[in-house]
Parts: sequence; C-alpha cells; structure tokens
Amino acid sequence: MRDLNAIGRIGIGDHGAVTRLVFSIKELRSRQVLIHLMRQAGLNIRIDAIGNIFGRFEGIDPKAPAVLAGSHLDTVIHGGKYDGPVGVIGALEAVRTISENRIPVRSSLEVVCFVGEESSRFGFSTLGSSLAAGEVHPEDLTHAVDTQGTKLENVLAGLGITRRNMKSIKLDPKTLKAYLELHIEQGPILEAIGKRIGLVTSIAAPSRFRVIFKGRADHSGTTPMDMRKDALVASAQLIEYIEKVCRKYASMTKGRVVGTVGAMKIEPGVINAVPGRTDLAVDIRGTSAQSKNHVARMVKRQARAIAKRRGIGVELLTIREEDPVPLDKRLLRVSRKLCDEKGIDYEIMPSGAGHDAMQMAKITPAGMIFVPSRRGISHNPLEWTDPRDIALGAQLLMETMIRVANEKL
Ligand code: GLV
Ligand code: MN
Ligand code: MN
Repeated sequence: MRDLNAIGRIGIGDHGAVTRLVFSIKELRSRQVLIHLMRQAGLNIRIDAIGNIFGRFEGIDPKAPAVLAGSHLDTVIHGGKYDGPVGVIGALEAVRTISENRIPVRSSLEVVCFVGEESSRFGFSTLGSSLAAGEVHPEDLTHAVDTQGTKLENVLAGLGITRRNMKSIKLDPKTLKAYLELHIEQGPILEAIGKRIGLVTSIAAPSRFRVIFKGRADHSGTTPMDMRKDALVASAQLIEYIEKVCRKYASMTKGRVVGTVGAMKIEPGVINAVPGRTDLAVDIRGTSAQSKNHVARMVKRQARAIAKRRGIGVELLTIREEDPVPLDKRLLRVSRKLCDEKGIDYEIMPSGAGHDAMQMAKITPAGMIFVPSRRGISHNPLEWTDPRDIALGAQLLMETMIRVANEKL
C-alpha cells in the first residue's frame, strides 16, 4: 500500500483525481519511481524501445521460459489510483516476498509495466503490450491523434519506432511461460455477490472508430432552422441510436454489447455558430465478436443514413478493430485450485474492460485475477478497493506465479 500510494500521488489533483496520460511528465515520473522500487528489490531491469519495463528475478533455471506479471501505470484523465498500479505493484510485492523468503522458483519471474494501456490520449489502447506482442499493424496508427493534434506515429518515431522496425519490440514467445495480471474489477459484480476474488475467462474487445459529420458552420442568429446543416444535431441522433441499439444487445445471450461516445470535437465550438463539423470517438465493445461487429456495422450504417437524410457529409475512420480474447484455462485452473485449498470464495467471470493481458494472450498463456471495486466505480476519482482485498489478490497472484514457475502447465 505504501508503494501503491507513492505511485498514486503522482499526477494527483482536485478531489483525489489522478491524471497520468501516456508520455506525459507525470506518467514518466511514475515509471521512474517503479524503476527505483525494482532496483531496491534487486531486480534486473530491462527497458524496451517504447518504455515497457521488465524487472527480472532470476529463477533456478535461468534458461527456462519466464513467468511475467504486471499491468500499467498510465491513467485516464481524472481517474483513480488503482486501475493498473494494483497489478504492477501487486506483482512487485509478490516477487519481493518470494525473494525475501527465498522461495525457490524454477522459472525466472518478471515484473512488467506496460506503457500506455489507456486509450484516453490517442484513442489507442494497450500500446506497449500490443507492441510487445507484435500486434500493432502499421495501418492501426493512421488515425491515432491526441486532442492537440499530436500523432501517435510521430511520438513513436521520436522513440525510434517506425512502421518498418516496430516488430523488433516483440517479445520472443519461446522466452515466456505465462503472463499474469492482477487488476481491480472496475465493475459491480464481486461486491454485489460478496466475493473477494474474480478469475477471468475472457476479455471483451472493442471496435473503435471516428465519425466525422461535415455540415456547414453558419450564423446562429440569422440562419433559418430549415436552412441549416448542423453537424451536432446529426451527432446527437447517432449517439442516441448507439444507446438504443446497445440496450437491445445488453443481455449476455446477445453478447452483452456496450457502446459509448466518450469524446467529441465540435467546430467551430462557439455559442453563436451552427456547428459545422463534429468528430465523434465511438467505442463499441462485447465479449462476442459476432454481436460486437454486428452492432458496429449497424452504427456505421446509421451514421451514413443520418448524414444522407440531413444532406451533410460523413466520414468513418477506423481506429482499431479487435476480437474478444479468451484467457488460458490452465492458468485459471491453477488459481482456482489455490482458492479451493485456501477456502477463498471466487467468481469465474469475463472482463468488460480491456487489459494488457488481451495482447499478451496472443503470445503466451495469459491469466487474470480481479479484486472488487467499491460500487463498481472506475475511471473516476472515487475508484477504491479495500487494501485487504488488494493484499489477498497479490497473495493469490504470488502463489499462482510460484506454481506456474515450478510446475508444468
Ligand atoms: C481500459 O481501461 C479500457 O478502456 O478498457
Ligand atoms: Mn483503465
Ligand atoms: Mn487498467
């Protein structure tokens, strides 16, 4: 908790809100603090081109594939201090405990901090883990820009990462035995059923795209209502449609699709002009690829229909298309067995939020452990998890790491 709080103070603002957007000074500072903590713990540190940090504790057989555990330290705007750091500091504490108690592990253990898990700055999620998994495709970068107009591609170029060489960051799957991630649930289920541990089966994935409505900016006092080309009214109709169609797909049997427009730019964006142009960021997610893709297609079709009806232009730009990711059943079984042995009540559940584990799952067996979020609140300063639950989660993570490091999967 001391280390978690130390990270949580970096980027803290009014009402305890934490903001550490990827590649900001605050986010870099949090990574420096982690490096310091890893060094204190005696870990061997490696940092790749994007800035992913790997702190290694050597196992009895240094050639054996390593067991990785971690998460991220970047945050959304005005987020909390648990989303991400619980998994990084939890993994660090697990490895520190193993080291201090001289618990033998055959495989080496690595504490990992992935860069830029949150999509809050560029609309691009799990950046560092996607690169580590070799899952960034050059075309993915085309439409990733922040609100200042900074292109993600240019930021990467500044770090020496280009479309041509980005595959070189990819980890060699042969060197990996498993990836484990402890995370807060960020939803209300565990609290509601009174369980302290969630074992994750799969991770919902997003279809993300921008919808740009191109109307015409006009004087808001002189332009008659029937002569306007108002891009914002078109957006409002689309946003309402997204809510409506996702409510139809709300149940598990329909794939539990959720849809959000969490960001929008309005131009010119003044009180006395008809909005001429809007740029909406659409996030459609689901645990069934089929339902999610179907809803995304319906939303795009509706955007075109609205534009046509209102006589304005529309442009659809893909940010990223991903499929839901199943996690490794064998890893889940290891954690489950440990829970059974220790009398810990757990819930087996999918994840609605995205995580670095979804990228790592593409190159190595990946597993996740959830701990409860008070009132299910996350991406909000009110995010809170009971320290006793964090400790229990970290304990389970540690025991899982030891078993996975010492036994055949
Ligand atoms: C990560 O927090 C996400 O957006 O799911
Ligand atoms: Mn998050
Ligand atoms: Mn997270």
